Amino acid sequence: MKFLVFLGTVRDSTPPKPARLGLRVLKACLACLNTRYIGHEVEFVDALDYPLDNVFKPHFAYQKGKAPSSLNALAERIESSDGFIMISPEYNHSMSPALMNLLNHFGSSLFSYKPSAIVTYSAGQWGGMRAAIGMRTFLSELGCLPVSAMVHIPKAQEAFAEDGSLILEEEQDSWFNYFDRSFSQLEWWAQASKQHRAEINPHGKIMDFKSNPSERNAP
Ligand SMILES: Cc1cc2nc3c(=O)[nH]c(=O)nc-3n(C[C@H](O)[C@H](O)[C@H](O)COP(=O)(O)O)c2cc1C
Repeated sequence: MKFLVFLGTVRDSTPPKPARLGLRVLKACLACLNTRYIGHEVEFVDALDYPLDNVFKPHFAYQKGKAPSSLNALAERIESSDGFIMISPEYNHSMSPALMNLLNHFGSSLFSYKPSAIVTYSAGQWGGMRAAIGMRTFLSELGCLPVSAMVHIPKAQEAFAEDGSLILEEEQDSWFNYFDRSFSQLEWWAQASKQHRAEINPHGKIMDFKSNPSERNAP
């Protein structure tokens, strides 16, 4: 299966230090996935690689094939994935606005009927759990329902070195076991939904919302 890992931080200035703490979290997650989830493709999407226009024009607002090539390429990667890992810092008790903006550029039909896992972190003691609560709602609306187990990493700078390794080496198993609760659920749901998508095309049975929000209205 193929999993896309999104990283939401686009902050490359300080204070507060360190900048892009999320890179450590990303590297730790990838180390866990590469050692414990062998056989799957894991690709990384850095929100920093997508400087988007100030005027919001999502991928689905362009005529077919006319969107900027970077948006087209990412749309294809999302569509061909079986599940998503969304890594976000907590800014003012909310998810990264850059990650939300990037994801808003793609129709929910690309994400839907595939699961997601939420990973949040912060430099402080709550590990981004308030951001994670909002992410549940957001990702559910996008159609990639989040699995129940979430990863929250408080004081990530004290747990992970810049290369993503554990500062206290002896803690690696405990952290990877913690990640495993979410990643194993993600793997299970991704496998199940992939099989079921192959049997029944959800987009044929349940119409995607196309042009007008009223398509979802109660009668
Ligand atoms: C605008 C802003 C708002 C923040 N709000 C929170 C917050 O609500 N909760 C928290 O625990 N940390 C908060 N922080 C601290 C971040 O956890 C810390 O800066 C972390 O390094 C952010 O991740 P990043 O470096 O990958 O962007 C905030 C930081 C910034 C820049």
